[in-house]
Amino acid sequence: MHNRIESVEQYKSSYHSSLNESESYWSKVADTFTWKKEWNSVTSGNFEELNVKWFDGAKLNITENCLDRHVQNHPDKIAIYWEPNDPSDLAISFTYAEVLEQVNKFSNVLVENGVNKGDRVCFYMSMIPELLFGVLACARVGAVHSVVFGGFSAKALAGRVSDCKAKLLITNDQAYRGTKIIPLKKIVDEAIQGCESVEKVLVFNRTGAEVPMTEGRDIWLNDLLAQASDTFRPVEMNAEDPLFILYTSGSTGTPKGLQHTTAGYMVWASETFKNVFQAGKNDVYWCSADIGWITGHSYIAYGPMLNGVTQVMFEGVPTFPDPSRFWQVCDKYKVSHFYTAPTAIRALEACGPEHVEKADLSSLKVLGTVGEPINEDAWNWYNEKVGKKKCPIVDTWWQTETGGIMISSLAGVTPSIPCHATLPLPGVEPVLVNDKGEKIEGNPAQGNLCINRPWPGMARTIYGDHERYRQTYFSTYPGKYFTGDGARRDDDGNYRITGRVDDVINVSGHRIGTAEVEDVIDEHPEVVEAAVVGFPHDIKGQGIMAYIIPKNTNDSDNEGIFELLNEMITKDIGPIAKLDRIVLANDLPKTRSGKIMRRILRKVAAGEFDQLGDISTLLNPEAVESIIEKVKAQ
Ligand code: WTA
Repeated sequence: MHNRIESVEQYKSSYHSSLNESESYWSKVADTFTWKKEWNSVTSGNFEELNVKWFDGAKLNITENCLDRHVQNHPDKIAIYWEPNDPSDLAISFTYAEVLEQVNKFSNVLVENGVNKGDRVCFYMSMIPELLFGVLACARVGAVHSVVFGGFSAKALAGRVSDCKAKLLITNDQAYRGTKIIPLKKIVDEAIQGCESVEKVLVFNRTGAEVPMTEGRDIWLNDLLAQASDTFRPVEMNAEDPLFILYTSGSTGTPKGLQHTTAGYMVWASETFKNVFQAGKNDVYWCSADIGWITGHSYIAYGPMLNGVTQVMFEGVPTFPDPSRFWQVCDKYKVSHFYTAPTAIRALEACGPEHVEKADLSSLKVLGTVGEPINEDAWNWYNEKVGKKKCPIVDTWWQTETGGIMISSLAGVTPSIPCHATLPLPGVEPVLVNDKGEKIEGNPAQGNLCINRPWPGMARTIYGDHERYRQTYFSTYPGKYFTGDGARRDDDGNYRITGRVDDVINVSGHRIGTAEVEDVIDEHPEVVEAAVVGFPHDIKGQGIMAYIIPKNTNDSDNEGIFELLNEMITKDIGPIAKLDRIVLANDLPKTRSGKIMRRILRKVAAGEFDQLGDISTLLNPEAVESIIEKVKAQ
């Protein structure tokens, strides 16, 4: 039995053997799972050929590891405490045996509605238990799930559904989100017009709203589940069969469908959860993310379930009915392990100390953060006000592409250091490189963060475009996976992530590609040219700012352009990509070859006017003065 890492010495020796005796290390880890057939080789392939495989030849079903084996050992243990948006509504809990029943029913529904092994099934739902059951049911029948966050627009949903050619789309009538109601089914109806692959839409009745149902296409999921059998034989999958596709934004082009496979992802989600959080048998874990993001995949749907842990699943938002909600939920369920994003911490801190003080948080043992760099002030507040200085904080660095946590302290085992992700997990070999791609040896160091060798949880490809996968992540620094992040390493080898070094903006922990936003802005008939950059934002981490050259140079003619652009962005991408600021410029600084100098635009947006570097080689240095004036005047 491969145990959890419980001391610094054990971390050091595990880390060492994970890299130097990789095969035996990972085969011991894998031995703790349920397999239908053992692997032929633990690991094969490399970044050059981009043919990475883990546990190749093995057969398994990940849900047997999430559910069946726990049902054998502790059927009546609570798996999920589901907390509804409105605290006065009925909260529901499910034991491991009950989750298995629900997942079996859902699996039968999928198969009865034509889903076969390998088919893609898209979810556009809110955080209700059926989303979790549906995702696991896909894995049980061998279908590939693709969850789209319920905050994306119809157009964004359509793009994702069409890209992965989903056969089935599953949604709910409407979603409760704080005081708001999101008309999910209506958005689906709008999205689906251009999605030829979709044969059926299953609709879960959450709010009881009257929604139009298209004859022959739309079916109430509640009815199907009520009639379905609660037994289902899990489909045997190959280790490298795809498990899910999840879309994320990059610096160029349309969102990319990162594809993760079964066995390696399972091992990674499970091991990282176990070692980082150190949740015990009677602990209650709560990750406040949405299943629409990778954090919700790895640390709600899979990691905790693989470890047989009790967890809270939350439908609502941190500020409804008031900003004490997160802490009330921690109090209500006696949460011991709480995992959230820095943006939520900052937003709740800004609401005043009375909210966090009125809840009893004595059950908390471990706090986690993810999604963006955490600033010192937010770290201290989390540590003092929430953790009462007795809870280690795990600052977990990872990405949609990495499948699970890569760099983090292990709660209570290796030291937490404010604002530092700290040390790589077993199997992770981080390297810092300079802009020429040369490895920076020694400490301290600062550079572009790369990973030097394959790890089990890494995405295997971009769905339908392996070449794009190579181009995006493996061509900048050949032989290495480039993360797009910058990092510093201190004297003791601890990593501190400094943020994206590419054209990705991290807004409230959500990745927004500048090119995607620019594409929408360029559609506006009055826009000649636009450049979008991120700037420091107190609550969101980064805000979005657009420099725009309008056709009309007369300012009064451009009134309302900000609102109009935001309407367009909301329609094409979703409200998360809305602009915080715009600057109407006459010209944008460019290189002699005509490329917009984003570096300068970012500095100006951040108010760092004296750190622009040498601008004399620009095609139009005078453009810099003019945008500085405009920004100063705002
Ligand atoms: C950022 C979220 C600093 C980083 C799991 C990364 C972080 C991007 C941290 C991935 C952290 C994530 N400290 N930055 N602890 N965690 N990031 O794909 O820029 O939504 O590249 O995955 O979030 O975002 P994604």
